[in-house]
Amino acid sequence: MAVPDLEAVCNAVIACRKCDLSATRTRAVPGEGSPSAEIMFVGEGPGFHEDQQGRPFVGPAGKFLEEMLGTIGLQRADVYIANVVKCRPPGNRDPLPDEVESCRPYLDEQISIIRPRLIVTLGRFSLTWFFPGDTIGKVHGTLRRLERQYFFHLYHPAAALHAGSLRKTIEDDFSKIPAALEKVTTLESVPGEGQLVAVAAAPSAEQSRMF
Ligand code: URA
Ligand code: SF4
Repeated sequence: MAVPDLEAVCNAVIACRKCDLSATRTRAVPGEGSPSAEIMFVGEGPGFHEDQQGRPFVGPAGKFLEEMLGTIGLQRADVYIANVVKCRPPGNRDPLPDEVESCRPYLDEQISIIRPRLIVTLGRFSLTWFFPGDTIGKVHGTLRRLERQYFFHLYHPAAALHAGSLRKTIEDDFSKIPAALEKVTTLESVPGEGQLVAVAAAPSAEQSRMF
């Protein structure tokens, strides 16, 4: 089967009825941004505003994310923004394991089409989608590699809005993204290096911390 393009994935999400979240959503939120983005941000799932508009990170957390993007000279359109689950869990509850599994192929496809240099996970949920069992408090602000993909981990922007003390931590971590991206670019340009330093499937922070 031909590799689907980004628009085909978005259309499949919009029509998707694979899990019960399709019954309670207002609109599915496939994700949006540049198909050639170097950085892909991955959140948890749509909240109230996202569900209303069908777009990711358009509520207060999104406003904060946009502000932080601005501090490193980027706009939403320069990156790609998506979520682990594409439909809002009622009352913003955590997505259930079967909902996450039903939705998994969409994010997988988005990543393989965009092939971002760097995936920035937003919050615990997105972190553990890629690194099951990891703890955000231990790995936030670090650059890591899993197989051939580089990751940078942030607290969720909504957490900063609820716990003021986290705000500075997220802002500090965010400010390291340009250097992390530069480091990835340098590593990718070293012949062989791109294949060499793969970390184990379930790396500890110590094992794989690169930055
Ligand atoms: N929180 C998320 O995790 N994703 C969104 O799209 C909005 C808020
Ligand atoms: Fe489909 Fe994902 Fe929405 Fe469930 S959450 S209906 S799997 S798009």
